[in-house]
Amino acid sequence: MDGTAATNVVVEPASRLGGHLVCPGDKSISHRYALLGALATGRTTITRYATGADCSSTLKCLRTLGVTILNQTGPDVAESIVEIDGCGLGGLSEANTSVDAGNSATTLRLLAGILAAHPFRTTLTGDPSLRRRPMDRVIKPLCAMGAQLSSEDGCPPLTINGGTLRGIEWTTAVPSAQVKSALLFAGLHANGKTTVRERIATRDHTERALALFGIEVARSGLAVSVKGPAALRGCAVKVPGDFSSAAGWAVAAAAIPQSKVDITDVGLNPTRTALLNVLSRAGAIVSTELDRHADGEPCGRLTVAHRNLRPIVVSPSEVPALIDELPLLAALATHRGGGLTVTGASELRTKESDRITALVAGLRALGANATEQPDGFIIVGDRSLAGGTANAAADHRLAIAFAVAALGAEGPSTILGADAVDVSYPGFFKTLALLRT
Ligand code: S3P
Repeated sequence: MDGTAATNVVVEPASRLGGHLVCPGDKSISHRYALLGALATGRTTITRYATGADCSSTLKCLRTLGVTILNQTGPDVAESIVEIDGCGLGGLSEANTSVDAGNSATTLRLLAGILAAHPFRTTLTGDPSLRRRPMDRVIKPLCAMGAQLSSEDGCPPLTINGGTLRGIEWTTAVPSAQVKSALLFAGLHANGKTTVRERIATRDHTERALALFGIEVARSGLAVSVKGPAALRGCAVKVPGDFSSAAGWAVAAAAIPQSKVDITDVGLNPTRTALLNVLSRAGAIVSTELDRHADGEPCGRLTVAHRNLRPIVVSPSEVPALIDELPLLAALATHRGGGLTVTGASELRTKESDRITALVAGLRALGANATEQPDGFIIVGDRSLAGGTANAAADHRLAIAFAVAALGAEGPSTILGADAVDVSYPGFFKTLALLRT
């Protein structure tokens, strides 16, 4: 995050959490609906568009590229409505400044795929955190499709000289839904078929979203293909609640004795919910009830209650499906009875912060027995946290994870830079206050 001074928040220990809630709209899905709406012909109306700063960055970038967008945020998260007048495939306009994606790598990488097919020069940049994140993973395949992309050290700013693209077959080197989506977005504009193959499945929101906008998507095992040039139709879509935001409450309820939370209208896409299986392994009582498909996305009720915690191990093959929830699992492991060993997760070092070093440092500062490993971490739940001061390192997932850890401490804790939560969950601390019983 850039600009304004960071805000610190004091988190008191919790004796019990309970209640019913809904979470803001899903961040990953909101980005995709907005970007596809801009490429479509006609109007796209997105209900419950994510209210965090990352999804506002996507709208800001699209406006810079000439897209007309109406954004009405109501008092309730479910009332945030975004209307986009699509420019049609290849219809974005050249920006007269650099395009700033803020803290959002999803915005930057997915836009890179789209702008690779536009016949002008664009510079994509972001805040200090985003300017440290690796872009070679999109630069290489987009260059193979015929665009010219460059960056000084593999990190933003990224300069794109777009043009006519040809379809390719590409196997992703790291499991990444952002890379897969950037290539599929480029593939919509390319001549011929674009196929992206993964070694381990990642979230499939792009595949589901494309179908809503009238695009035929072929899926075969871990490969997904689109044919270009493709014509997208604007549509009306509703975003389910963000599973990764709900995950904070699911983990907090699992951690604190006698707690139970009930979250409705939350996305339950199986490529996102691996956390639930791990929570059950750790001892929690977890149940889900699928009640509808919100425009191609499974959606329903999630209930999580505390039961005595057990130490758990997360294996490397589980990491891609849990990538955003690993800091929360680390927080869970600091609660009485918990424990966690994670390996094969070096990808965490390339996130909004180095999520191995900063996570272990913050948990240790709260009193945890936590050790950093090159590709993961070990947490031994052999003590109660004393409480202390943890630095969120300008990372929203860490701010939330430290708050969840602090709920089990013996004394109050201070989260430095706690306003980082605004990137994905602006109402996080207000909701926490409501859940204390
Ligand atoms: C996201 C994909 C994941 C995830 C990120 C959102 C997406 O990143 O960590 O928070 O919306 O596609 P990678 O694709 O880099 O794994």
